[in-house]
Amino acid sequence: MEVVIVPDAKAGGEIVAEAMARLLRRKPDALLGVATGSTPLPVYEALAAKVRSGAVDASRARIAQLDEYVGLPAEHPESYRSVLRREVLEPLGIPADSFMGPDGTAEDVPEACAVYDRALAEAGGVDLQLLGIGTDGHIGFNEPCSSLASRTRIKTLTEQTRVDNARFFGGDIEQVPHHVITQGIGTILQARHLVLLATGEGKADALAATVEGPVAAVCPASAIQLHPHATVVADEAAASKLKLAGYFRYAYVNKPDWQGL
Ligand code: F6R
Repeated sequence: MEVVIVPDAKAGGEIVAEAMARLLRRKPDALLGVATGSTPLPVYEALAAKVRSGAVDASRARIAQLDEYVGLPAEHPESYRSVLRREVLEPLGIPADSFMGPDGTAEDVPEACAVYDRALAEAGGVDLQLLGIGTDGHIGFNEPCSSLASRTRIKTLTEQTRVDNARFFGGDIEQVPHHVITQGIGTILQARHLVLLATGEGKADALAATVEGPVAAVCPASAIQLHPHATVVADEAAASKLKLAGYFRYAYVNKPDWQGL
């Protein structure tokens, strides 16, 4: 796995947006797997700026959702479908029918999960999956002790994750759903390139366990160690507990320019 340490969240957004732009120049209809939450926002802003300046055309890109709250109507402003329409599809000029995601309002949730898992494979698989990381080490909403082989399914959020996400619901934890549909860890690992972005001191412990700890279900993000092309982009604060930070910086400075992320 490659670990790139950047000065701040804005620089992280820029470097990941450039990786996405390179992919789209090579493969205009690439399937981009996208996360929600605060961490990816600088990526989406930087990519939208590239679209506006004509540096890249994202209009043929396809977008795949990572996870969704169960029971929130699709039009709820905090359903991840709504969030991604606002933060990704509209700013990048991607039509609504180039978007795929699980149906969080389905009556038959297991069936909705299986349908989405199959749809991802039938779409040719995710080319680049952007991931954030929870303070408890979750990726998608695979909470601690999720099976490392899991497929898309329903999960129960930990109390900590609901506390962390209450800020999107006016600070009221009671408004944060208990359940989500999330791509499983096995599903996520099928993407061709994983890019995990971590910013802020609150992610430092989880990131150290992800990068330098054992592969263990207790830290679901550590599963990315099993992926042949995984990139971690971390700001100084999130990288502050990495013992090998010096080596990661050295490797990046000496990396051939043509290689990209
Ligand atoms: C949401 C998702 C989660 C978040 C994580 C971090 O789609 O995949 O894993 O990435 O909870 O959230 P933020 O970025 O808000 O700290």
